[in-house]
Amino acid sequence: MECPWKKPWVVLMGAIALIQLYGSINSHGCFTEETRSLLEFKAAYSNDSLLPSWMDGPNNNCCDWKRVTCHPSSGRVIHLSLYALYKLGSLPDDNGEYDCDGSPTLNGTMFLSFRELTTLNLSYNCFGEFISKPGLCRLKKLEVLDLGGNDFEGTLDECFGNLTSLRTIDFSYNGLSGSIATLLSFVSLVSLEYILLGGNDFNGPFTLPIIDSEYHMNQVHTLDISKNQMDGQLPDNIGSFFPHLEYLDVSSNLFDGHIAASIGKMPNLRVLNMENNNLSGNISLLFRLHRKNKTLNEKPRLDTLIASRNSFEGPITHDICQLNLQVIDLSLNRLSGSIPSCFNMSSTQFIDLSDNRFIGTIPDSTCFNMSSTQFIDLSYNRFIGTIPDSIYRVESLRILSLRGNQLQGQLSSQICRLRNLRVLDLSNNYFTGSIPSCFDKSMFCSGTDTIATTKERIISGLDLSSNQLTGKIPYQLGDLSGIIFLNLSHNNLNGSISESFHKLYSIESLDFSYNNLSGQIPLNLHDLTFLDIFNVSYNNLSGIAPSNGQFDTFDESSYQGNPYLIGVWNKTNRKIVAPSPAPTPFEGWKTDNSAIDSTSSRSSFSVFHFPMLLLSMTMLWINLY
Ligand SMILES: *[C@@H]1O[C@H](CO)[C@@H](O)[C@H](O)[C@H]1NC(C)=O
Ligand SMILES: *[C@@H]1O[C@H](CO)[C@@H](O)[C@H](O)[C@H]1NC(C)=O
Ligand SMILES: *[C@@H]1O[C@H](CO)[C@@H](O)[C@H](O)[C@H]1NC(C)=O
Ligand SMILES: *[C@@H]1O[C@H](CO)[C@@H](O)[C@H](O)[C@H]1NC(C)=O
Ligand SMILES: *[C@@H]1O[C@H](CO)[C@@H](O)[C@H](O)[C@H]1NC(C)=O
Ligand SMILES: *[C@@H]1O[C@H](CO)[C@@H](O)[C@H](O)[C@H]1NC(C)=O
Ligand SMILES: *[C@@H]1O[C@H](CO)[C@@H](O)[C@H](O)[C@H]1NC(C)=O
Ligand SMILES: *[C@@H]1O[C@H](CO)[C@@H](O)[C@H](O)[C@H]1NC(C)=O
Ligand SMILES: *[C@@H]1O[C@H](CO)[C@@H](O)[C@H](O)[C@H]1NC(C)=O
Ligand SMILES: *[C@@H]1O[C@H](CO)[C@@H](O)[C@H](O)[C@H]1NC(C)=O
Ligand SMILES: *[C@@H]1O[C@H](CO)[C@@H](O)[C@H](O)[C@H]1NC(C)=O
Ligand SMILES: *[C@@H]1O[C@H](CO)[C@@H](O)[C@H](O)[C@H]1NC(C)=O
Repeated sequence: MECPWKKPWVVLMGAIALIQLYGSINSHGCFTEETRSLLEFKAAYSNDSLLPSWMDGPNNNCCDWKRVTCHPSSGRVIHLSLYALYKLGSLPDDNGEYDCDGSPTLNGTMFLSFRELTTLNLSYNCFGEFISKPGLCRLKKLEVLDLGGNDFEGTLDECFGNLTSLRTIDFSYNGLSGSIATLLSFVSLVSLEYILLGGNDFNGPFTLPIIDSEYHMNQVHTLDISKNQMDGQLPDNIGSFFPHLEYLDVSSNLFDGHIAASIGKMPNLRVLNMENNNLSGNISLLFRLHRKNKTLNEKPRLDTLIASRNSFEGPITHDICQLNLQVIDLSLNRLSGSIPSCFNMSSTQFIDLSDNRFIGTIPDSTCFNMSSTQFIDLSYNRFIGTIPDSIYRVESLRILSLRGNQLQGQLSSQICRLRNLRVLDLSNNYFTGSIPSCFDKSMFCSGTDTIATTKERIISGLDLSSNQLTGKIPYQLGDLSGIIFLNLSHNNLNGSISESFHKLYSIESLDFSYNNLSGQIPLNLHDLTFLDIFNVSYNNLSGIAPSNGQFDTFDESSYQGNPYLIGVWNKTNRKIVAPSPAPTPFEGWKTDNSAIDSTSSRSSFSVFHFPMLLLSMTMLWINLY
């Protein structure tokens, strides 16, 4: 989804009356000045149906209003949950998006009425420009401030340093810029626990004040500065500055250089995400983490390690065997060496080591948790040997990709024990023998799935292309009625194409090219109404090519290199057939994160390679189309 909150707009809110009757309480417990401010807030929206419980009148009691909570004894408003109002009060455009034109401006002065306010949630409105930030900054009791998912610009205001009770600050997904150091240097913000600044335009280096006797911010357990433009190295003292950090997300910035050793000194760290920067140096540092209590032989707490899309080097050392990782994503680095056989994957749900320089065999680990590992991607490395038998016992496996290695051996029919498999990609290896005929229709279903607790749309598929497979294409593959792509090209398959393939009701991409297939193309394949890419070129097919339905859309390039095959193109007397632009080949189930990142918003961002996260602050959706 496009972030809908990015359109220019400014509409001035109606003037809010000056606070009168200071401190007076009306007969029903709600303070007049607070009622008045709330009604002014509502009046700024042109839609009268919004906030229907907020009614003016003799019997009004703002403490009974929806989204307003008062203190039981003082009667003062303490919580305001004013999130996502703009969306609620307006209609989406034809594309289902909400235009911020006409949304009100936030008048900070109104908050002066709420002297006991502890929670202010203004997230997901179309607020941009602020009238009177100092008004907001005088809320001395404020503990939770959520301005996320708006359109605020400019730098972090000095006055936020006055909010000395703040525990949670959420400014994520706005257009804020400048340095975050401003915020982190406020000695006054001693209570901060959650700092969420992701998805802005913050830039410059990430510097932390040198800690002296005035030790501050040691309560922070969540720091998210992801998706900004920050550069330079990660600060050396990050571990000592935030000794209690549990969740650290610095992903999708421009950080470079080596990582600070002090990252390993945060004993509570559970989630570390450094994805998509230009960090370098020896990765093995990351596996040597401090434990909470050495004498108790406690394991480090880290359960999610995401370091993909950087320039890390070095091997995965034996230190990793001390960790119980649920998510490990080290893809797209320059890691080398072999995978230690002690690597305990018993709790790992998501393993992505793709696009590195790993060598050796895939460890035949008995440690895979049969009921929790869902994702294994070891593609584009230099693994040799065969597929270890232990993988076939991981019944929970949804996605297995070993593409682009130097694996060999026959494909075992044990593969069909993986009943939950949705993607199997073994292409570009040296597998030999025939394709197992054990597949049945319960496998390769498509749909939205939960992988490592993120919701993702998975496009199911089987890719065995570019191997040395021989024999017939088993007709049982025709039973995979949920499969969306099937690529068996660049093998030595022979025999004919089974009529059973007309039952691949969901298929969108079917590639049998570069084999030795013979006989006719079954005419009933025109039942395949979703078929978008069809390729049987360079085989020995004969007879007449199907021509109805989707088959009208395929041109000669789908069939060339079959001397005895006749299609509509042979009947026309064209000498030279102008090559029409080939359909974009199916690029597999992987998408490019960076493309998605740029359109991400907090409510909907993604992606496969970003199993963010067990923390579940966000639900991720993947759309692999
Ligand atoms: C903001 O609100 C205050 C009082 O609540 C009012 O005096 C002021 O005029 C408002 N500013 C604008 C620009 O509406
Ligand atoms: C006004 O708000 C109501 C309640 O949220 C909503 O159902 C309605 O569509 C909105 N009307 C317009 C014109 O946006
Ligand atoms: C603000 O409200 C939104 C929507 O209900 C919620 O997702 C978010 O967690 C709230 N913010 C805080 C800091 O609690
Ligand atoms: C507190 O607010 C006052 C006035 O708004 C401002 O001058 C001062 O700099 C603020 N203090 C801090 C620590 O930000
Ligand atoms: C990434 O860092 C390397 C040095 O480690 C440097 O050569 C390269 O230019 C950097 N790339 C970008 C995009 O900054
Ligand atoms: C570690 O645990 C032991 C045994 O429970 C305890 O005596 C010791 O104080 C703990 N050490 C630390 C640093 O917490
Ligand atoms: C990285 O560190 C490990 C262990 O400390 C060492 O064995 C390895 O050679 C180093 N690799 C590189 C590329 O520096
Ligand atoms: C792997 O971890 C599990 C759970 O923590 C533990 O029971 C098992 O003994 C470990 N196995 C190895 C080989 O370390
Ligand atoms: C394996 O996964 C299941 C389900 O996620 C979990 O209940 C079980 O404790 C795990 N076993 C081990 C040895 O980690
Ligand atoms: C297909 O290939 C296999 C071995 O690769 C061979 O035994 C068989 O005879 C071939 N079948 C046909 C119809 O050519
Ligand atoms: C029909 O066209 C295909 C593709 O160009 C070609 O390979 C084949 O030889 C033609 N068949 C006949 C019988 O001309
Ligand atoms: C099938 O796989 C081959 C080789 O791996 C690749 O070149 C081709 O583009 C793939 N076909 C489709 C439709 O993706």
